[in-house]
Amino acid sequence: MKTFDDLEVRRPALAQAYLALLGAQPGRPLALFAPRRVGKTFFLDHDLAPQAHKAGMLPVYADLWLHKTAPLEAVNHALEEALDDARVPASSIGKLAKTPVKKIGVLGASIDLGDEPQRRALPEQSALRLDALVTRLAGQHKGQVLLMLDEVQTLGEAQGGVSLIASLRAVLHKRRAEVCAVFTGSSQEGLSRLMNTAGAPMYQFAQIIDFPFLGDEFLQMLAVHFAAVHPGKTLAMDGLRSGFEKIGCKPALMRDVVKAMSAEGLTDVQRGIDNYMASDHQVAIWRALLNSVDAFDQGVLAVIARDQAPLSQSTLQALAAIPGAKPTISKVRSSIEKLKRSGLLSKNAGGTTIDDPLFAEYLRQRGAL
Ligand SMILES: Nc1ncnc2c1ncn2[C@@H]1O[C@H](COP(=O)(O)OP(=O)(O)O)[C@@H](O)[C@H]1O
Ligand SMILES: [Mg+2]
Repeated sequence: MKTFDDLEVRRPALAQAYLALLGAQPGRPLALFAPRRVGKTFFLDHDLAPQAHKAGMLPVYADLWLHKTAPLEAVNHALEEALDDARVPASSIGKLAKTPVKKIGVLGASIDLGDEPQRRALPEQSALRLDALVTRLAGQHKGQVLLMLDEVQTLGEAQGGVSLIASLRAVLHKRRAEVCAVFTGSSQEGLSRLMNTAGAPMYQFAQIIDFPFLGDEFLQMLAVHFAAVHPGKTLAMDGLRSGFEKIGCKPALMRDVVKAMSAEGLTDVQRGIDNYMASDHQVAIWRALLNSVDAFDQGVLAVIARDQAPLSQSTLQALAAIPGAKPTISKVRSSIEKLKRSGLLSKNAGGTTIDDPLFAEYLRQRGAL
């Protein structure tokens, strides 16, 4: 029997639309933007990669967030692995079979299997290496490579970011027949800084697209499964919708809330969210998150959670209550920058906000500065 954890929404049509867009503008990557944990990586893995495969492309994935200090090396590493996979067949028999036969004796007695395939060494320098790898991989695959770079705003934060981006852009443009690229980004600010800074090499380079949240299809799956587990009980769609929106359209989180409701036989989604937030487990997670930053940063988070202007005089006065703090505008600014980099804060149309709406709610309920 299925569980709540098995419920997955697939979006092949969306993947195909993106591939069509890529095909229509060679050399121009797509940058899919959405907040954290709404399903970008899941989409690359479960929808985009399989559709690209079907279209004869070779999808290659690299998570730049995991390799913040050396993002271009991370891309190269992913390409090298793909090249290894493409070149070295799984069994040694396959490996022999792949080695071109150079000479067959007249009686078929002397068979020379030839040398192991050898290639010139790849360049050391990472930008040149990227260029060589893309070309080789596309040649080996005999088709286009789809480079999927997850959390690409990391490039803008890396040392020497501008020249990294310039290299990437140059390769994607020059090798547009061999490679196309899809980026994702979680930090709107980071991504738009990366793409739109006048004079920066990504300027008007990638096409930025708002990546769509999951919608009714996912919520309906939850409701149908809930009804199957609890005959006679139903979850109302409007309750699910407003709850999903409230938690920032994060599917794994919504699933956890509904699982907890299922355990209690509860059908009121708002109460389900309240209970979830008040659970020991969740409170412990938030407390740990809060304690991962110092007292001053905690104060700044509390201020922002309450929608107070973080740089106002009254905020500075309130922050002065923190033992040892001598708040100044520039201290608050650098705290905000730090909190953005760590993903606790994000910047969107409404200004700087707490990234996770439930964490914001926790901070508001907690009250203290
Ligand atoms: N299409 C989907 N259907 C069901 N669950 C999903 C889907 N997309 C994402 N999820 C759930 O949400 C979690 C977070 O998604 P993820 O792709 O890692 O988010 P992001 O990359 O945007 O931060 C996944 O681990 C998965 O449990
Ligand atoms: Mg992700």
